[in-house]
Amino acid sequence: MDFRLNEEQQMIRDAARDFAQSSIVPVAAEYDRSGEFPSPTIKQMGELGLMGIEVPEAYGGSGMDTVCYVLALREISAADAAHGTIMSVNNSLFANGLLAYGTESQKLRYLQPVASGELIGAYALSEPQSGSDASNMRVRAEKSADGSYYVINGKKSWITSGPVARYIVLFAKTDPEAGSRGITAFLIDTEREGFARGKTEPKMGIRASATCEIELTDYRCEASEMLGQEGQGFAIAMGVLDAGRIGIAAQAWGIAAAAYEASRQYVQDRQAFGRPIGGFQMIQAKIADMRTRLEAAELLTLRAAWAKSDSAQSGARYTLESSMAKLYASEAANFIAHQAVQIHGGMGFSKEMPLERFYRDAKITEIYEGTSEIQRMVIARSETGLR
Ligand code: CAA
Repeated sequence: MDFRLNEEQQMIRDAARDFAQSSIVPVAAEYDRSGEFPSPTIKQMGELGLMGIEVPEAYGGSGMDTVCYVLALREISAADAAHGTIMSVNNSLFANGLLAYGTESQKLRYLQPVASGELIGAYALSEPQSGSDASNMRVRAEKSADGSYYVINGKKSWITSGPVARYIVLFAKTDPEAGSRGITAFLIDTEREGFARGKTEPKMGIRASATCEIELTDYRCEASEMLGQEGQGFAIAMGVLDAGRIGIAAQAWGIAAAAYEASRQYVQDRQAFGRPIGGFQMIQAKIADMRTRLEAAELLTLRAAWAKSDSAQSGARYTLESSMAKLYASEAANFIAHQAVQIHGGMGFSKEMPLERFYRDAKITEIYEGTSEIQRMVIARSETGLR
């Protein structure tokens, strides 16, 4: 087994780290405070090729592998998890569906501008009454008599980047009697009549990533704007989430790494009772547990990324690897951020340092793109076949 990164992987990791530390770290606290969408830095990330890392160059991306993607996303998230969320939805939830199921003309029209970072993409699955129970959606797409277009009506909620996205992959019921096999994916242009945005959600963490409800009222979608086949939407949604969950694992790994590194330095500098606090056994236990969980989160995330890259040749599903990485890394990030605040004491609680932001930002990684409870269900079902 070779754990070394290749030249391209090291190059993208270092480039993302340099950019994140020099351009995102200085502005992260202010964007967290204001909750404003960080357009200037996101634009620069597009110019650096970070908004479509796995997308081939012909469609506006960087043409790299999934390991490159998670390494870059970890660096961006270590600087600011909100930037990580925006990057992750663009790369994972928008680009992956188009890459796997888009026609050539859909890739050129929708994927190219989003992968290059010129426009922002989003993904609309959840609804006010259906989050974890995703197939229980109500948004309805009715086919015209001649089959040339669909009329879509209903509300979607928790749409990350919804307030700024130009294009959205949206899932709707085309056959309400057919359960999860009656769902179809559509490509939505947010500048078309019939599309409206609700208020931006006020959030506990990742505050600079914009989230809103969206509503479609007699929105007309041409049949050529359907992604994949009619009835294939739920499988597309789940397959895309398999990829997305690796991104959330990488984001959690980044938050955990930043919280751990701050703590490692602090315990060497901070003196109490005449010596550095890192010399006390209770602090040593925290450092040891934090470091070990950080390492395990890294390995599971890289393993899942490798499984996804490998699936391009083998065609094998990587649902299990992805869910285990997301479950473990998100819980590790919450543990590590919690310990980091504790180690820093009053300074951990203060907005003068980033620890309290890491603590608030870590929470969402246990919730979105499938809660920890859903990941445990996916893992257990995969292992036993029982439901
Ligand atoms: N890949 C491909 N197909 C899959 C699949 C996968 N990973 N998982 C399930 N399917 C297929 C099944 O094979 C089945 O197909 P058939 O009917 O042909 O047999 C079909 O989908 C239905 O599968 P299930 O019976 O397992 O479906 P279920 O209703 O029991 O739900 C679930 C399974 C795992 C709970 C799923 O609903 C789920 O993942 N829920 C969580 C949803 C989620 O993560 N939401 C987050 C939204 S995105 C977000 O967070 C916002 C954002 O912008 C960041």
